[in-house]
Amino acid sequence: MLTNTHTSALSKPLGEYIGASDVQIRENRGRHVVLIVDDDPTIRELLRRVLTMAGYRTATADGGLESLAAIDQFEGAITAVVTDVSMPGLDGLGLIGAAAARKLDQGVQFYLMSGAPHSLSMARTIGLPISGTFQKPLDIVALVARLDADLLAPAKVEDEIALDGIGWLGRALAHHDKVTGAHSDQVARYTAILSGAMGLPVGLAEDITSTSVLHDIGKIGISDMILNKPAPLTDDEFAVIRRHGEIGHSILTAENHRLSGMASQIARHHHERFDGTGYNRLAGYDIPLPARIVALTDVYDALRSPRPYKPALTHEEAVSCILKGDGRTKPEHFDPAVLSAFEGIKDVFERVDRHD
Ligand SMILES: [Fe+2]
Repeated sequence: MLTNTHTSALSKPLGEYIGASDVQIRENRGRHVVLIVDDDPTIRELLRRVLTMAGYRTATADGGLESLAAIDQFEGAITAVVTDVSMPGLDGLGLIGAAAARKLDQGVQFYLMSGAPHSLSMARTIGLPISGTFQKPLDIVALVARLDADLLAPAKVEDEIALDGIGWLGRALAHHDKVTGAHSDQVARYTAILSGAMGLPVGLAEDITSTSVLHDIGKIGISDMILNKPAPLTDDEFAVIRRHGEIGHSILTAENHRLSGMASQIARHHHERFDGTGYNRLAGYDIPLPARIVALTDVYDALRSPRPYKPALTHEEAVSCILKGDGRTKPEHFDPAVLSAFEGIKDVFERVDRHD
């Protein structure tokens, strides 16, 4: 029996916590294992008992390292991790970052809880794969509702299928052209950071990040002789390369899902420029927001990447090209809000591992 001695971290009385009466909901919740991570045994035990009462299966850990081992060991069994931010050893941010780096984040929803609001917003800014944040004292009704929405909603199945499709297409492109495959992954990493820094709703930022990986999918329809030509392109070859936007659009546009719709927009419009001098001469806010964001992350990665006909620029040189211009790249090419968000977090880009 829970007592009020457990409620110091909570914002509502215990009586309001959810004990699902609906059998179907309890059954669906029972398909998921939620790993609860907190160095405070009182909060850990409280969350365990409440989530168990609601029908979820639970596991607990008192730190990041132990949790990482559990996610790894029970491969695929843990579908949600609710973790405290501040813990000795590997903290909550480190746990999620390490899980993502080791590719343990696929199929796992991560939630952060903290008493310090700035640590929750920082987690989003650095682009960690976070599904939700909860401020302490915890509103457990909201926490359970969020778990239900993310883990039980039927729409998630469609999203999973769409995300699988994005993964398959991305790997097909990487087989066709390794350089573009690596560039696409890198652009998605930068897009996660930049979308987070723009203060977009988390779901939208995640969608833009997921779909940005397909921005160059149209290159699958371009000869690899041209793509990998170890010299500057002729005008005719450049005209062929320019077709990749429309090819990408035609590959993705047949699908009727918000993620393929967004991927299609990005594929078609990532070479637009805000001043209207890009591929299709679209200008300003006529260019879809996801494409305005990827336009910058694409250029940043292209500047940082070595090509047979040009050396890689340093981070500082690439930043200077984008913010001040170098004759070819100009600040007017980018959405001022995207540019300003980039200026604010540009140093985070430097800390992202590079593929080359
Ligand atoms: Fe492109």
